[in-house]
Amino acid sequence: MLGNFSYCNPTKLYFGEDAISNLSSELKNYGENILLVYGGGSIKKNGIYDQVITILKDCSKKVTELSGVMSNPTLDKLYEGVKLARENNIDFILAVGGGSVVDYSKALSASVHCNEDPWEKFYLRMEDPDNKVVPIGTILTMVGTGSEMNGGAVITNTKDKLKIGKVFGENVFPKFSIMNPKVTYTLPKYQMVAGFFDIMSHILEQYFSNTDDNTSDYVMEGLLKSLIHSSLIAVKNPEDYEARSNIMWISTWALNTFVAKGKSTDWMVHMIGQQVGAYTNATHGMTLAAVSIPYYRFIMKDGLNKFKRYAINVWNVNPEGKTDEEVAKEGLDAMEEYMKKLGLVMKISELGVTEDMITDIAKSSFILPGGYRVLTTKEIETILKECM
Ligand code: NZQ
Ligand code: ZN
Repeated sequence: MLGNFSYCNPTKLYFGEDAISNLSSELKNYGENILLVYGGGSIKKNGIYDQVITILKDCSKKVTELSGVMSNPTLDKLYEGVKLARENNIDFILAVGGGSVVDYSKALSASVHCNEDPWEKFYLRMEDPDNKVVPIGTILTMVGTGSEMNGGAVITNTKDKLKIGKVFGENVFPKFSIMNPKVTYTLPKYQMVAGFFDIMSHILEQYFSNTDDNTSDYVMEGLLKSLIHSSLIAVKNPEDYEARSNIMWISTWALNTFVAKGKSTDWMVHMIGQQVGAYTNATHGMTLAAVSIPYYRFIMKDGLNKFKRYAINVWNVNPEGKTDEEVAKEGLDAMEEYMKKLGLVMKISELGVTEDMITDIAKSSFILPGGYRVLTTKEIETILKECM
């Protein structure tokens, strides 16, 4: 392990079929004015809304509802939430939904008492809140982002066509997250597999960096193997509890800061994928799926040893009699086959990207230096063309 780091994750997790039974004891720790944040209505269809409202009433909480948080939550929606939270003197935010609802709630928690424009301060200047942060708790309904146990809060500025992820500090992490794998059964297949790939991408973004021997890489190989195994079961039988619960747990550990320790981390698939999202409003996990294989083929030679290790340790490629490059390539081929089996979108053109958008998507993608190759804008354009 190289480098210096600190590790602290303040989020308390309640996991399993009975996880929701812990909600009332958690709520006792916070004030009476609760902002209940949710999305487009899935929680009303699957009964979670009624369950949560009953618990909130039993705890004598005063509830203000903020619904309609869209996938890829927007800055305008954030402004709307700030106004509502201020008017109702909110003490605590309860986020019930997927990554979008949870991310949104974190951005809101930092923005309610912020006297400056939150976009300028948190997303453009990347500053941390120096104001009071409203505490949040989550009830997770979709698996993939890891938002239930991290500080990430991705917001889309539709006017400027920018989708930016701010990673807030521990004071913005959820105080608690309630995770019942059964709640995820009602996800449409498209969203379910997009979430599975989001998990894989989070792990790979951290795995494909550095060349030293790091325990995190061994942990990530284990997470990847378990994910591949369980996801192939879950696509066939979405109600396989064992598979869905494993995936939910992997998802949290893929992006709760643990496996990033001692790693410089890449994140270029996310940077390019996010801008594909900003231009098309496509589902996050699918933007990553459509970008990944061409990106990894492009940088493979720059991180050849790691790609070889990935092929052997994760995809069981037999290296005998093969060059390093052949082994590495076989690993990526196996990954591509697996992605097709899941039913992921493999082309950005299928997500709404047209030729005339490519230059702008490339120009607006942030270039990060932590991976095996620091890309140029021209190279991003080349990769995007491969993704069509
Ligand atoms: O809005 P509702 O009606 O709830 O429907 C949602 C939404 O349409 C639906 N859904 C969620 N749970 C369901 C359900 N439908 C039926 N049954 C359930 N149990 O699924 C759809 C997608 O939900 P969403 O929250 O948008 O998906 P996801 O969890 O993938 O979150 C995506 C957002 O998270 C950001 C992405 O960029 C995107 O904006 N990310 C956040 C990260 C973080 N916090 O660290 C990292 C990620 O890389 C990612 O960037
Ligand atoms: Zn992601």
